[in-house]
Amino acid sequence: MKILVVGSGGREHALVWKLAQSPRATKIFAAPGNAGTAGLAENVEISAEDVDALLDFAKRENIDLTVVGPEAPLVLGIVDRFKEAGLRAFGPSKEAAQLEGSKSFCKAAMVRFGVPTAAYGEFTDPEAAKAYIKEQGAPIVVKADGLAAGKGVIVAQTEAEALEAVDLIMQEREFGEAGDLIVVEEFLDGEEASFLAFCDGKTVVPMDSSQDHKPAYDGDKGPNTGGMGAYSPAPVVTRELFDEAMAKVMQPMIDGMAKEGNPYVGILYGGLMIKDGAIKVLEFNCRFGDPECQPIVIRLKSDLVDILEAAIDGKLDEITLEWDERATVCVVMASGGYPGSYPKGIEIKGLKDAAALKDVVVFHAGTKLEGDKVLTNGGRVLGVTSLGDTVSEAISRAYEAVELITWEGAQYRTDIGKKALQRER
Ligand code: AMP
Ligand code: GLY
Repeated sequence: MKILVVGSGGREHALVWKLAQSPRATKIFAAPGNAGTAGLAENVEISAEDVDALLDFAKRENIDLTVVGPEAPLVLGIVDRFKEAGLRAFGPSKEAAQLEGSKSFCKAAMVRFGVPTAAYGEFTDPEAAKAYIKEQGAPIVVKADGLAAGKGVIVAQTEAEALEAVDLIMQEREFGEAGDLIVVEEFLDGEEASFLAFCDGKTVVPMDSSQDHKPAYDGDKGPNTGGMGAYSPAPVVTRELFDEAMAKVMQPMIDGMAKEGNPYVGILYGGLMIKDGAIKVLEFNCRFGDPECQPIVIRLKSDLVDILEAAIDGKLDEITLEWDERATVCVVMASGGYPGSYPKGIEIKGLKDAAALKDVVVFHAGTKLEGDKVLTNGGRVLGVTSLGDTVSEAISRAYEAVELITWEGAQYRTDIGKKALQRER
């Protein structure tokens, strides 16, 4: 089977790594991929958002299965386009991907389906948004409706910050038309967890829980990033909360979407806020999380090709996932300056020594090959991922590998997984 993986991040390297282990995969392409995918797949120079070029390529190469990593092509309707051309692609349709593509769509769907979420208002008029903020008070959260590369959410601690956020999004148009509509939402306190599931339109097959670390610096300080590290499982999601997330969040979303004639096929990623044993949903994503994908797939023992095909064919009820019971931790190494501006093209050293450690996989994100050198090529550069019998063992092993890898300006958090240690089960 010929497989095309769309994207170039750590998530896509992890997907290629896992798909390459399937006896059913004969050839894998990554578009555009990175230096890590280059070792397992053939990289093709097509951007993840160039749906026309991806479709031409898939037709020409007779690709049997296309796996879409990032949200942008899904929201552009890549899966519908492939389907119309008689090609199989894994992910939600354009209409179903609105769960991530429009915060307003997502909030309204949660309300219709009775899924617990923060109270909110939505506005196309900045003055009306500001009046609502003044009435509600701070802290409060201001969100651009559309996709904004993970940057469209401003958690405002003061009323002044929230009013500025409205101007930034609606007047200065920081995120372009993504900010024509905004959602202003009640601030939720608690601990976040990521709950991902394979969905086929009716059946929900949950993956083990995971937790991301969004702020840039230790102790959850500093600006938000795409994610500085993750681990799985996340002990904050107890057995009871896991069952509750399935019964009150995931299944109602899938049932509701199906009932409205907009069935959801793909990964449904629930961003949960957990407080005093209760769950509220912050958002849904329509894809694997990055970096959550890395620690999750490393624990997944089942064949990923079988699962993705079953999802496309509406046969997930025939699938049972098998997991490596060990804990995994993924530490993201980023370019100096990230999430602000950062240099590119710096040589990375120590990759081979790190990868030679037992139970360690170094997933690449923003990297590129130049001859036999690996150079930095993005904000998040590597996801150093390890397995351990306990979370603390996985943490020490991941950092042992991280310390072998060097480049000028490299930065990473030194406390990935610490929250799990406090709750180790
Ligand atoms: P989102 O893209 O909606 O997940 O938002 C990105 C991040 O902003 C989340 O992972 C949270 O850390 C934070 N966030 C979003 N909504 C809220 C909220 N209602 N209360 C507190 N924090 C939030
Ligand atoms: N790690 C958060 C996300 O993928 O959206």
